[in-house]
Formats: sequence, structure tokens, C-alpha cells
Amino acid sequence: MSDNFNTIAGWTLFGGIVALGLSSLSGHYFLADKHERPETMGYAIAGVEAAGGATAAAAVEPIENRLAKADAAKGEAVFAKCKACHTIDQGGANGIGPNLWAVNGDGIGLGRGGYAFSDSLKGKGGKWDFASLDQWLTNPKAYADGTKMSFAGLTSPEDRANVILYLNSKGSNLPLPAPVAASAAAAPAAGAAATPAVAMVGDAASGEKVFAKCKSCHSIDQGGANGIGPNLYAIAGDAIGEGRGGFAFSDALKAHKGNWDAATLDQWLAGPAAFAAGTKMTFAGLTDAKQRADVIAYLNSKGGKLTLGAAPAAAGAAK
Ligand code: HEC
Ligand code: HEC
Repeated sequence: MSDNFNTIAGWTLFGGIVALGLSSLSGHYFLADKHERPETMGYAIAGVEAAGGATAAAAVEPIENRLAKADAAKGEAVFAKCKACHTIDQGGANGIGPNLWAVNGDGIGLGRGGYAFSDSLKGKGGKWDFASLDQWLTNPKAYADGTKMSFAGLTSPEDRANVILYLNSKGSNLPLPAPVAASAAAAPAAGAAATPAVAMVGDAASGEKVFAKCKSCHSIDQGGANGIGPNLYAIAGDAIGEGRGGFAFSDALKAHKGNWDAATLDQWLAGPAAFAAGTKMTFAGLTDAKQRADVIAYLNSKGGKLTLGAAPAAAGAAK
């Protein structure tokens, strides 16, 4: 499970820069539903097609959770949209696009009976998995700028989950990833985050190791630069989605008021998109409550102001 999770987290990360653009845009759409039209709404984002592509990518339930509810038969119906260019049966011919038998888990832009992939897709490296397929099918050009797949993308998150489940059923049969924790409240069968990290006392040294997963986007030392994500020095106890040397937070995270405490950090790290739909943090989340507790202890050890180990009043939980 944790291997699988790492793969997913890795690919989520890989697509992060692309999804960043998408998610900040979707944050604006999100606001537009409820409030007046934000002034910044019309800005252009490189790689995102003006029409067609699914721009609300990050404001949706994580793929792990959608897969748990997906239906391969419905996915076969969605696949009608792909058939002009793709065969899927074993030994099927390549057409405008490559044959897709057993594509989930296979090398990205590789093999497929010598199909002539674009340099763009060939350049991605790694293997297709549920998360990368979800990103690819949301908006192929945003995933691989310069791809030959001239298909706008599937805007419906459910359609994507259904078709991915269908693809997986054709020669791949990879085990489905466990649903991510924040939605485990709605679907507790997942087993992830059964124990809230706030009821645990984390270990900062172990948390430093967990933080390796965050480093591609976050610095943590005092005065460290913002990167894809904000510098996290003294984040524990600090305001949610504010300050951080002028980091451009998503509207989704800014809409959360108050300060980070053990409980909110735990929720956030269990499922960023569930905590703040439309967040720019394209990270699937930490399914393991112990890892969350550890990394929270580590964050707190870096200039944080929280007293950990004490049960928060709201939860009323003993430690
Ligand atoms: C208009 C033609 C067209 C349509 C429609 C289309 N594709 Fe593609 N697809 C392609 C082409 C061309 C490529 C090769 C892309 C490249 O090399 O950049 C491709 C590549 C892929 C790959 C990567 C294969 C690999 O081995 O790396 C997957 C997966 C895929 N398509 C899935 C789908 C699915 C699922 C649909 C329907 C929802 C779909 N495609 C619709 C043309 C199409
Ligand atoms: C793929 C890049 C990426 C990864 C990996 C990542 N983050 Fe983030 N993080 C972000 C971005 C982007 C934001 C800003 C989110 C927003 O504005 O919606 C953020 C925001 C945060 C915040 C809120 C900061 C604030 O000032 O409110 C915390 C806390 C945080 N991340 C912790 C972590 C931890 C801990 C990990 C690892 C377990 C992690 N992140 C992994 C990109 C990432």
C-alpha cells in the first residue's frame, strides 16, 4: 500500500507544475460560483487550452476516491470517444494513437509496437499509473505540451475514473489505490487515518524523513525561499494561507481562516484537496496517521508555536 502510495505521490508531484496552473484557475472558478466575478479571472495560463480542457482539475475528489466508486462498464462507454484513434484489445493495431492494451503500469510514451510517440510524451519518463492517467486525460496538452494526442480532455472527473478503471481492466489489472484519508470519514472502509494524528504524539526525527516527500515544493529553514509551495518555517501556529513572504496562495486556502493547529494540519495533510477544494498543493496526502503526526511534530520543531501531545479541546480526545 505504501509503495503504491509513493508512486501516486511521486506522479502527483511530477504533474504538479502543470496542475498548479490548473488549480489556481479552478480556484477562481470556484469563487465565481459564490461571489462576484474575480478581477483576475481571465488571465492566460500557458499550456491550458482556452476551450475544451478540464480546467477544474484540482477542485475534484482525489482519483483514489473516485476509483473506489468507478464503473468499468461506464468506462467502456466513455471509451467510445477514444476509439477513433485507439484500439484497446490485445494485439490491436496502432492507428492515429497507439494500441492501449495493458497501458496502465506500462512506460509512458514507450513501446506499443514501435508507435511513433511525440518527443513531448517520450520525454516524460516513468510509468503510467492511476494518478498520471487522470492528469493526462484531464488535459493532454497541459500534461505533455506538444503531445500528438489532439483530444481536449475529459472534463468529468467521474468519466475519467470510469475510463481509467476500464483501461486497467484491459491487461493491466493493477490493484486500486486506497482512498485518501480526508474522505475516509465518508467511506471509512479505507482504513486510512482511522486514528487521527492529533491523538498521537509525533516524533520529529521520523517526521524529518517524511518531510522528504515535501521538499520538492517546500523549504523549511528560517528565511528559506518559496518554491512551488511556500517556505514552512514556523508554520505550526501561524495563519492559514497568509503571509509567507507574499506567496500567492490559492483562493481556496485563503478562504480558510484562523491559524494552523495540530488538528487542521492533520486534516490538511491527510487530503489537501479535501481540506481546501481548489488548493494549489497537488499532493495526494499522507494516508498514514503516524506519518502525519511525525511530520507535524517536525514542522512544529522548526519555529512552531504549538504544544503538541495535549488533546485539543474541540476533539476532546485523550492522547
Ligand atoms: C484524435 C485522436 C485521439 C483521441 C480521440 C484520443 N487519443 Fe489518446 N493518443 C492519441 C495519440 C496521437 C497519442 C500519442 C501521443 C503522443 O505521442 O504525444 C495518444 C496517446 C495516449 C496514451 C498514452 C499511451 C502510451 O503508451 O504512453 C493514452 C493512455 C491515451 N492516449 C488514452 C486515451 C484515452 C483514454 C482517450 C479517450 C478518452 C484518448 N486517448 C483519446 C490520439 C488520440
Ligand atoms: C507538489 C508540491 C507540494 C508538495 C509535494 C507538498 N506541498 Fe505543501 N503546499 C504546496 C503549495 C502549492 C501550497 C499552497 C497551497 C494553496 O495556496 O492552496 C502548499 C501549502 C502548504 C501548507 C500551508 C502553508 C500556509 O502558509 O498556509 C502546509 C502546512 C504545507 N503545504 C505542508 C506540506 C507538507 C508537510 C508536505 C509533505 C508531507 C507538503 N506540503 C507537500 C505544494 C506542495
